[in-house]
Amino acid sequence: MDYKVYVTRRIPEAGLDVLRRECRNVQVNPTNHSLSCKELLDMAAGVNGILCMLNDPIDSTLMDAAPDLKGIANYAVGYNNIDVAEATRRGIPVSNTPGVLTDATADLAWALLMAVARRIVESDSLTRRGDFKGWAPMLLLGSEIVGRTLGIAGAGRIGTAMALRSKGFNMDVLYYSRRRSEILDVELGARKVDKDKLIEESDFISLHLPLTEETRHFISADELRRMKRTAFLINTSRGPIIDEAALVDALRAGQIAGAGLDVYEGEPELHPGLVGLRNVVLAPHIGSATVETRTKMSVMAAENLVSMLKGERAQNCVNPQVFE
Ligand code: DGY
Repeated sequence: MDYKVYVTRRIPEAGLDVLRRECRNVQVNPTNHSLSCKELLDMAAGVNGILCMLNDPIDSTLMDAAPDLKGIANYAVGYNNIDVAEATRRGIPVSNTPGVLTDATADLAWALLMAVARRIVESDSLTRRGDFKGWAPMLLLGSEIVGRTLGIAGAGRIGTAMALRSKGFNMDVLYYSRRRSEILDVELGARKVDKDKLIEESDFISLHLPLTEETRHFISADELRRMKRTAFLINTSRGPIIDEAALVDALRAGQIAGAGLDVYEGEPELHPGLVGLRNVVLAPHIGSATVETRTKMSVMAAENLVSMLKGERAQNCVNPQVFE
């Protein structure tokens, strides 16, 4: 195809191979940083397909600068960085990468949960500092996980995978979701609850909601006040789901026991209070960051983009209305 495609960050070769097989002109951001708004606009001129990252804002200004745009393939399952309504209005299909990153992200949510509950990062620092002076009965006591209550906010693919991983820990599982989850009900005997119950009864709350206007600050000062003082909050979804300033206050005041975060409200900036806290484990948005998953994401996003350039409905199109 004689189309110009732009990939906004270097991705695994497997995906680039798919694009290069099908399109004559494939350009990849050669730098090791995200494009600025100005760089994104410069890239857009004459481009027919964009394979973009979750931190590239794809809005009406960008679409104005790319009048020949035939498809936008996001390299992520979440697509809150794209103005999908605007793309739909212009008849531009948009795709995401669902399914392939479910396990990697659920694994990371568990890694954060266990790390913060068992104080792994503090333990690592103490040991490296040379402060391990021998076994001690009161050294770095953490919180038990077995038999506790796991609260899942958002029982989609990743929330479900997170909940299913609790089997070995014999946990009670509560979930907050629009729809009843047969898998969670049958496999775990989980209970679908309202938000108040989830907040007030969970020992661990793991967030798996998409970012929308309704879910922004799903966890704010009020929810943090109503959580158990012994509870932990885990976020691998999107930063703005939590009011980060309120979280820092709650962690400082000991209103909750701790948090494990992979995403931040003003990413890549962190609330300055977070880094000084011991009861939080911080990761740099690596939910899907395994070699296997990122390779699958690259192929999926590339195949979606090729379909869109051919005028076909991409497998993972999020605005199929454009084909009606
Ligand atoms: C996604 O795909 O939305 C994840 O946040 C990537 O890690």
